[in-house]
Amino acid sequence: MVKICCIGAGYVGGPTMAMIAYKCSDVQVVVVDIAAARINAWNSDRLPIFEPGLDDVVKACRGKNLSFSTDVEAHVADSDIIFVSVNTPTKTRGLGAGKAADLTYWESAARMIADVSKSDKIVVEKSTVPVKTAEAIEKILTHNSKGINFQILSNPEFLAEGTAMDDLANPDRVLIGGRETPEGQRAIAALKAVYARWVPEDRILTMNLWSAELSKLAANAILAQRISSINAMSALCEATGADVSEVAYAVGKDSRIGSRFLNASVGFGGSCFQKDILSLVYICECHGLPEVAHYWKQVVQINDYQKTRFVNRVVSSMFNTVSGKKVAILGFAFKKDTGDTRETPAIDVCRGLLGDKAQLSIYDPQVTEDQIRRDLATGKFDWDHPQHLVPSSPTACKQVSVVWDAYSATAGAHGICIMTEWEEFKNLDYKKIYDGMEKPAFIFDGRNVVNVEELRKIGFIVYSVGKPLDPWVKDLPAVAY
Ligand code: UDX
Repeated sequence: MVKICCIGAGYVGGPTMAMIAYKCSDVQVVVVDIAAARINAWNSDRLPIFEPGLDDVVKACRGKNLSFSTDVEAHVADSDIIFVSVNTPTKTRGLGAGKAADLTYWESAARMIADVSKSDKIVVEKSTVPVKTAEAIEKILTHNSKGINFQILSNPEFLAEGTAMDDLANPDRVLIGGRETPEGQRAIAALKAVYARWVPEDRILTMNLWSAELSKLAANAILAQRISSINAMSALCEATGADVSEVAYAVGKDSRIGSRFLNASVGFGGSCFQKDILSLVYICECHGLPEVAHYWKQVVQINDYQKTRFVNRVVSSMFNTVSGKKVAILGFAFKKDTGDTRETPAIDVCRGLLGDKAQLSIYDPQVTEDQIRRDLATGKFDWDHPQHLVPSSPTACKQVSVVWDAYSATAGAHGICIMTEWEEFKNLDYKKIYDGMEKPAFIFDGRNVVNVEELRKIGFIVYSVGKPLDPWVKDLPAVAY
């Protein structure tokens, strides 16, 4: 029986291994992590991450061919294939701070694998890493190998949160990169055989290591670039009276462009896009390609601009100050169907409003109060000026309340900001909400989920990203939007 071990029980490692176990009943899969609380949660009825369909898959396999353990070394030692799916955050200090990927966890995983291994292993890069990481990992493994043969493969994961189980069950493609030597090709074939149980052969792409590593960074950069492109257009739409949804629809009808990832928003969030682009920027700079680095940096800069622009709209519309005013924040997760708040635009928008002394009442159906408070209390890391940590507002704690439904969040509020496109925000009783708010009542829709015309009929002053402006907003003196 093939034994697979995955180091790292996070958003990628957990669901991916659960799917492998589900599809390959004759493969033994163990997910290991040093974080005991996380492993305990994977072994409990309340999994540590919220992902539609995940519970069923885990329940079907756990205790049969899927297990979760903190006994990292023992499981690594007797596995044939080891996936490494550990964090690779952006470095916040030292060389490359603000851009380069921090490979500390990866390096210690590699050293541990070399230490405990007694038989040949295939080591698979699952977490997104800078191009040529495999070379460094290979050196660590071979210099400590005691005669054991290690083959490194790159097998980047493309799943998106909220649709992880579907993405894993029906991937557009699976990438496997490896060395062009006979041993490298044998390792590729072994991993391909695992995926081939449920993924059609023509969707399993094999290539060299560097192409596979770079493809992942390139895919994320190009997806984020589409969002920044449409968000840049949204500013121009507001200035001219065009409607960004119509523009995106027209543009997306061109079959060369396609319609997906063209939804204007308050900005993209999530653990991958910004981190991977900054890593790409750093790699370009290291390879003496400043023009290429500058090009990709703009994608992140437009994203920051979009969040600032949103805050400016809110404050300027509400008579140039939100000081002491209750503002309801609907949604805090970086997108719907997830409880994840990493790099969520809601953090920057809340910080901006808190800086103007607003009283925030925050509601998200999946994010805990603890998480929201932690996110707002942590100083913001400024990737463009990594030496400066922008401190959080000292009174932030007192200015924030976290509530458990949209109606209490909005009661008595002067304004509402929609930060996440949760389905329930489309169907709220907005008449009831309007009646309970201070007047004039404002809605700032950062996700284009509300029906602007209907809300204007109720009496709201509505701003929706990239849509023709409400006369109220249009007549205000120009600020930097
Ligand atoms: C992304 C990639 O899609 C996935 O392939 C990769 O493996 C990890 O990074 P994820 O971060 O889970 O996945 O979410 P995604 O659905 O890509 O959305 C990222 C952000 O962009 C979210 O904040 C989302 O709201 C925003 N977004 C997305 C837009 O603002 N407009 C769009 O049209 C699409």
